[in-house]
Amino acid sequence: MTQAATTPGTADAGRPAPAPAGTPAAGESRGWWRDAVIYQVYPRSFADANGDGMGDLPGIRARLPHLRDLGVDAVWLSPFYASPQADAGYDVADYRAVDPMFGTLLDADALIREAHALGLRIIVDLVPNHSSDQHEWFQRALREGPGSPLRDRYHFRPGNGADGELPPNDWESIFGGPAWTRTANPDGTPGEWYLHLFAPEQPDFNWESPAVADEFRSILRFWLDMGVDGFRVDVAHGLVKAAGLPDLGAHDQLKLLGNDVMPFFDQDGVHEIYRAWRRILDEYPGQRVLVAEAWTPTVQRTANYVRPDEMHQAFNFQYLGTYWDADALRRVIDESLDAMRPVDAPTTWVLSNHDVTRHATRFANPPGGTQLREPGDRALGLRRARAATLLMLALPGSAYLYQGEELGLPDVTDLPDEVRQDPSYFRASGQDGFRDGCRVPIPWSGTAAPYGFGPAEGGPSWLPQPAEWAGLSVAAQTGDPDSTLELYRSALAVRRQHPALGAGDAVEWLETPPGVLAFRRDDFLCTVNTTAEPVEFAVDGALLLGSAGEQQPGLLAPDSTSWWAV
Ligand code: GLC
Repeated sequence: MTQAATTPGTADAGRPAPAPAGTPAAGESRGWWRDAVIYQVYPRSFADANGDGMGDLPGIRARLPHLRDLGVDAVWLSPFYASPQADAGYDVADYRAVDPMFGTLLDADALIREAHALGLRIIVDLVPNHSSDQHEWFQRALREGPGSPLRDRYHFRPGNGADGELPPNDWESIFGGPAWTRTANPDGTPGEWYLHLFAPEQPDFNWESPAVADEFRSILRFWLDMGVDGFRVDVAHGLVKAAGLPDLGAHDQLKLLGNDVMPFFDQDGVHEIYRAWRRILDEYPGQRVLVAEAWTPTVQRTANYVRPDEMHQAFNFQYLGTYWDADALRRVIDESLDAMRPVDAPTTWVLSNHDVTRHATRFANPPGGTQLREPGDRALGLRRARAATLLMLALPGSAYLYQGEELGLPDVTDLPDEVRQDPSYFRASGQDGFRDGCRVPIPWSGTAAPYGFGPAEGGPSWLPQPAEWAGLSVAAQTGDPDSTLELYRSALAVRRQHPALGAGDAVEWLETPPGVLAFRRDDFLCTVNTTAEPVEFAVDGALLLGSAGEQQPGLLAPDSTSWWAV
């Protein structure tokens, strides 16, 4: 069974010479990000150079050739900043320092330089909605007590009730429980409350404070000066809260997320912030980019984040949330492309990240959201995941891959309680309690854990890896034409060779039987069979690549996607 009719040959085939940051290669004048494939590295779990069981920057640096050989354009790194790790680094104590567990600023500098030398761009995470409660500003605000100017940089409020014993409003934390925690005054008496939309260790900044806005402009410049090519903006929809912090008037607010504009999410005021940031990025050479993590009710509202003077990309979470179903997929693809066209932005497709159950496990289960606890039918999940990836990579726009999906990794659904670290797992009714399952360190080689994640056989890894992962390692899959790793490598190589993939802002749908999708652009055709049966569908063209390998003439294999030259 072969997956690529056009064999990619060496992984470098068709790859442009590395462009140092700041000098866009020819043909990139419209923006390199418009059709870029960007790979998310989760630093805790990618590669551990010093053998302490936790991934680190030198580990990532040593493994960059894997990403070059895979054929991605850029790497997004989840946070590696100084942090007490109450939310795996999304609680930042110092935005200009590398946490010692990940390395040093010199390691970050070396990583950026080496990535550029290999032709890979680097996008770092920026966490502007909240800091760590250990951030110097927050600690001073607590120490200085009510009336301290530092309190203006966060949302401190007196409580309701006779003794201020009730939270200032009814907002609930995304991780469960009230979004407010009461402080103690410097003299030990009960004091004001502060807002945290996530964990209590993540106090929300007050973006009406000029000091906050100034600080983040300076942080942007710090990393731009270090040479990064862009920022993934964490909780980009959360920075501005409705004036007066009004009650929402409902419980179980998590269930409302994604359906409505909330007083703490997707407020129109956020856009002014991104316009200011865009002006800063545009001062720098080399097409630096902003990508929004913005969970909004509709793709139309997502489009607001990528208007021409704002960000460049916004993750398409409506697509991520769509099940393996032909009609639903076609609907969300059309809606997404239609929503982005008026703002002239690419759609940014994504199937997996560090916050959701991996798509190989989502599609192994019946439809059920993005936080699953059951492994489901693994073979089915993998078949569909491979097909879903080929569909995504054939669509116009940019796409993000999450580390380990190129190995077909499933979520680890049976982690014991004592190893779990997701803060929301330990808070009743939180949203994202099962995120550790997609964060297990990835396997590189060998037959014993940590499978090359760390330097020593039998060495530690911060989350345990399943025994079956020996067979899923990079080394085990390399050179096996049936492997998911080789499918990804071939797909990215074909995508580089066929400009129709990723290009444009529309697809031309062909008439198809139920459960089947087919679309073409120029001389490229993509067919998708989402059903469990082979479907008759004749294609007058040559197979470029298939998620199920070779096709029987005139038949589309169950749960498969194929790419054709027509
Ligand atoms: C984003 C991150 C997630 C984190 C949350 C709070 O959604 O992706 O991992 O827990 O923000 O920072």
